Amino acid sequence: MSALVVYESLWGNTAAIAHAIGEGIGEDTLVHHTGEIEAAEAAAALLLVVGAPVHAFSLPSATTKKSVAERPLAPGDIVPDLSQPPLRAWLEGLPAASGFAAAFDTRVRGPLGHGGASKIEKILVERGYSIANRSQGFYIINEKNVKAEGSMLRPGELDRAREWGRLLASRV
Ligand SMILES: Cc1cc2nc3c(=O)[nH]c(=O)nc-3n(C[C@H](O)[C@H](O)[C@H](O)COP(=O)(O)O)c2cc1C
Repeated sequence: MSALVVYESLWGNTAAIAHAIGEGIGEDTLVHHTGEIEAAEAAAALLLVVGAPVHAFSLPSATTKKSVAERPLAPGDIVPDLSQPPLRAWLEGLPAASGFAAAFDTRVRGPLGHGGASKIEKILVERGYSIANRSQGFYIINEKNVKAEGSMLRPGELDRAREWGRLLASRV
């Protein structure tokens, strides 16, 4: 396996960014959510890219996902995917490795938007990965727009994600 992008995503925004990063890295890149690939398998990747939405200045947790599960849906809202194993737990199962890695998150702009990618990057470094490029935050707008998958993303962010993927590939 040459490159692998792994993500957690409730409404498809982080998923869309993950797929765009994968396109930028190149054709053979695998893109999976946490339920689709075991962390133990990730060690085989030459480049591992990991991302999640920022929840409460950190990674999604049982508490933040419970709050989402309890939100009433407005007419036309898509149902959030709460079935994906938490990225936090997935990362705990990540074996020590010596390849390249990078972290990203999706977040709002401004002081609220931090605590996701930095946490992922810290764990990747602890496992022994070399960071291919500084962690990136991709921006969402219109947080209440959950009428379609990936509909919160700020215009231009998918292009930025593809560009970042190209940069990561060039560093490996
Ligand atoms: C419970 C909850 C807490 C959130 N907390 C933050 C936060 O602290 N900072 C931030 O920038 N965005 C926050 N957000 C917005 C998420 O980052 C946004 O829902 C996410 O980027 C959407 O990506 P997804 O469709 O892949 O889940 C929060 C969202 C939820 C549901």
